[in-house]
Amino acid sequence: MPVPQRTAVITGATSERGIGVATARRYATEGWAVVILDLDGEKSAKVAAEIGNEFTVPAFGFEVDVTDEQSVARAAEAVGAEVTAGNLPAVGALANIAGITSPVPFLETSLELWNKVMAVNATGTYLVTKAFLPAMIESGWGRIVTMSSVSAQRGGGVFGKVPYSAAKAAILGFTKALARELGDSGVTINAVTPGAVDTNIRVGSTDEQEAAIAAGIPLGRTATTEEIASVITFLSSDAASYLTGTTIDINGGSHMH
Ligand SMILES: NC(=O)c1ccc[n+]([C@@H]2O[C@H](COP(=O)([O-])OP(=O)(O)OC[C@H]3O[C@@H](n4cnc5c(N)ncnc54)[C@H](O)[C@@H]3O)[C@@H](O)[C@H]2O)c1
Repeated sequence: MPVPQRTAVITGATSERGIGVATARRYATEGWAVVILDLDGEKSAKVAAEIGNEFTVPAFGFEVDVTDEQSVARAAEAVGAEVTAGNLPAVGALANIAGITSPVPFLETSLELWNKVMAVNATGTYLVTKAFLPAMIESGWGRIVTMSSVSAQRGGGVFGKVPYSAAKAAILGFTKALARELGDSGVTINAVTPGAVDTNIRVGSTDEQEAAIAAGIPLGRTATTEEIASVITFLSSDAASYLTGTTIDINGGSHMH
């Protein structure tokens, strides 16, 4: 296994069947060192250690609440310390995967719920990106991937309702505006818009709802987490050098522009 040249930081990557873990594993498969940032620090460290052992890459996990600026600053400092100590290569990629959804109908959506869904998805993407971007700009190379959803494009219809669609649409605007601002800095930022993926985030979805979702997908099934992860690592690669500000649909044909 070659020594990793760069570190990929992945938020929201401890959920057992989640997109985040699959993405961290995929980065490691491709030879990246990985950093896992999630709410539970011990779990983040444990998942990182498992990935590090399996793929023989440096791997660290730290606690973060992506909605909390101080927490994000502490996590970024912890990563920076490992880079400075020579335990991790410089951060080259950031995958903003942490997110929550809500199936609550609009008129029953409290301000508290609205704020929470916006905070984790949209504000979290802003805070974590802001914390890791300076070092990428300084090094002249970086890849940021943001996690939107087909819900942003077609107004839900999968599971999440109004606040989720609004937050994921905010992420698309964020991605495009930041891509423009980053210009030729060497750092690119792109969004992915998955359709339904088989993870715990939609726990509570009934068999009938799942059948209805599958019926609306030309490929006839929901996505695997690996099918999302492979696009995220492609967007993080040298091969994606002329992509920035784009939105990559990963939806089995369920939404075509
Ligand atoms: N599963 C789908 O159908 C689907 C479709 C489109 C987009 N997405 C998006 O993909 C991402 C991952 O979803 P998933 O399906 O793997 O969900 P998941 O619930 O399995 O994983 C979400 C992860 O985010 C973490 N997280 C939640 N709040 C956090 C916070 N405040 N700070 C740090 N971490 C936090 C959780 O601990 C968990 O590890 C989300 O942004 C989701 O909106 C999912």
